[in-house]
Amino acid sequence: MDKMTIGVVGAGAMGAGIAQVAAQNGHEVILYDTKYAALESARHRYEKIFARLVEKGKWSQEKSEEVFGRIHFENHLDKFEKCGLIIEAIIENLDVKKSVFNALEDVCSKDCVLATNTSSLSIAAISSAVQHPERILGVHFFNPAPLMPLVEIIPALTTDMKVVENTRALVDSWGKVTVEAKDTPGFIVNRVARPFYSEAIKMYEEGVADFATIDWALREIGGFRMGPFELTDLIGHDVNYVVTETVWTQFYYDPRFKPSITQKRLLEAGLYGRKSGRGFYNYNEEEKAQPTEDQKLGQFIVDRIVAMLINEAADALFLNIASAEDIDLAMTKGVNYPKGLLAWADEIGIETVVNRLNELYEEYQDDRYRTCPLLRRMLKNGTSFFS
Ligand SMILES: NC(=O)c1ccc[n+]([C@@H]2O[C@H](COP(=O)([O-])OP(=O)(O)OC[C@H]3O[C@@H](n4cnc5c(N)ncnc54)[C@H](O)[C@@H]3O)[C@@H](O)[C@H]2O)c1
Repeated sequence: MDKMTIGVVGAGAMGAGIAQVAAQNGHEVILYDTKYAALESARHRYEKIFARLVEKGKWSQEKSEEVFGRIHFENHLDKFEKCGLIIEAIIENLDVKKSVFNALEDVCSKDCVLATNTSSLSIAAISSAVQHPERILGVHFFNPAPLMPLVEIIPALTTDMKVVENTRALVDSWGKVTVEAKDTPGFIVNRVARPFYSEAIKMYEEGVADFATIDWALREIGGFRMGPFELTDLIGHDVNYVVTETVWTQFYYDPRFKPSITQKRLLEAGLYGRKSGRGFYNYNEEEKAQPTEDQKLGQFIVDRIVAMLINEAADALFLNIASAEDIDLAMTKGVNYPKGLLAWADEIGIETVVNRLNELYEEYQDDRYRTCPLLRRMLKNGTSFFS
């Protein structure tokens, strides 16, 4: 049977990556962007990436040409007519996304599934723009899409479950790890990961330690691949801050998700991180900031951040955002956490986690540190997440 043609709207960082994944998996791909320059830049990017894969011996020249040949660069929407699935990856703006979906419905076939790669917008709001919302769902890839295994699948209130099932099976067949999440702010990863950044910045603001020491602690003691300051500098504060702010506002200003003024100032000053030469760190300086390698301090930092992350993961489970297995998979496969947070809670012990959170709550008297009812219930009943 012929593989369905996949449409991708937006040839930026994510769209180009998603188009590559589909083409590598044997699909003809229509990659569309309103900007000619974006299509050209995606084309150059493929040439470079594919040449490197051939050079390293990972791909044959023939495979590289085949994959490249399957990607069709287009700037007319009517080319989407023959697609079985269209994935939208344009700018994170609700009105623009709604108008794109509205236009897509006019050109695509009646059986075509429409997906959005939004990180933080409501799938329900996006699907309100079309006449057949049962075929719209969130299919959220992580950056870079060809390398990161995780894809969050997000049905909206009106999505047909058959559409969810089929799309999930298709993305699974691309070798991705899919998890299903409720249509709630940040889905799984962008919700559960918030304290990794915000609690680290808060500790820096309070003078607990400097950036380099907090990064060192999370890396060397916590086992995370990168510390929060180096990671947000890499992601870009324009992206990371906006996700935090969007999640916070969508949760009705819950203090648990409150953004930080320190990060906002970086954004206001145009210090976006690596891409602008300076963020928390200054990349124009030869000398790298050195951490204070104090084990006791490092452990304190890790314990506080991990307790906050576990609290968030437990809350996601408590509110049925996803299953315990999917929450742990999402954090290990989407953002490379060294362990699933719920399994980590079992390992540390629920009592220890609850005690750490209670201590923070007592000290700060801030709702930000309220312990998830599920953790407190588990402590009372002597249960754990997985055993
Ligand atoms: N960058 C990430 O790390 C990341 C990760 C996961 C999800 N996302 C989400 O993916 C989406 C795209 O993000 P990105 O980082 O690839 O953005 P980007 O800025 O790199 O690319 C967006 C592209 O969309 C094009 N575009 C804008 N309006 C358009 C329209 N009306 N029709 C067609 N093309 C249009 C732009 O020309 C640009 O090429 C966003 O919703 C974002 O939240 C981003």
